[in-house]
Amino acid sequence: MNIVLLGAPGSGKGTLASRLEERLHIPHIATGDIFRFNLKNNTELGKLAKSYIDKGELVPDDVTCNMVRDRFGKQDAKEGFILDGFPRTIPQATELDKMLKEMGRKIDYVFLVQADDERIVKRMGGRRVCKNCGEVYHVETLKPKVDGICDKCGSELVQRDDDNENVVKDRLKVYHEQTAPLIDYYKNQNLVHEVDGFATVEEVTNSALNIINR
Ligand code: AP5
Repeated sequence: MNIVLLGAPGSGKGTLASRLEERLHIPHIATGDIFRFNLKNNTELGKLAKSYIDKGELVPDDVTCNMVRDRFGKQDAKEGFILDGFPRTIPQATELDKMLKEMGRKIDYVFLVQADDERIVKRMGGRRVCKNCGEVYHVETLKPKVDGICDKCGSELVQRDDDNENVVKDRLKVYHEQTAPLIDYYKNQNLVHEVDGFATVEEVTNSALNIINR
């Protein structure tokens, strides 16, 4: 099964993707996480991505698409995937269609995680991520068992550099200009299902699973 998650920064795509990964046993592929992994390991790709991420801009399409193509080549992606943060532009979506066609596959579901900008800006100030495994928490709505410590691996929780209010506003602007047109792109293919990014994690996960199990 091949799933695409669409939605603004902070709408809850990553949170939903990690729950769906546990339930559906297909990998959560997040382009933002792959860029941050490269950044942490100081690779050339990481250095290049940082110059865009810090400003809230998109990494160029060719760089991003090549990275995704590589990721699709890994064994765990052969049975399906949950794409989070890709595609983010029309050229990325058409390139994804090309890659899938080459593999004899297609997109089964596009979940649009709905959230309004005002609540997103408030929410992002409270996001914390695990420095080691990337698990995502929130200081009010999704607290770890022990303050500041990841439930999964015991490492420290930190704030992402691009979660400061000004960069979040820039990222939202980029989303509306460059990514939101994908909603119609996929609606025209009858693939889009809307879920509420501000429902509880359990509710949003169950709405997606109910759509899949219909
Ligand atoms: P990326 O890492 O993809 O960031 P994003 O799309 O901006 O999305 P976020 O990770 O910020 O939010 P999310 O929707 O996953 O929300 P989350 O689940 O964490 O991209 C970062 C950068 O990389 C981009 O700006 C760009 O530069 C570059 N990049 C990445 N992909 C690219 C591409 N394809 N092309 C070009 N450039 C690319 O939730 C947010 C918070 O809310 C968390 O604290 C969470 O705990 C909480 N929360 C979420 N859901 C719930 C819920 N239901 N109930 C309670 N709390 C919740």
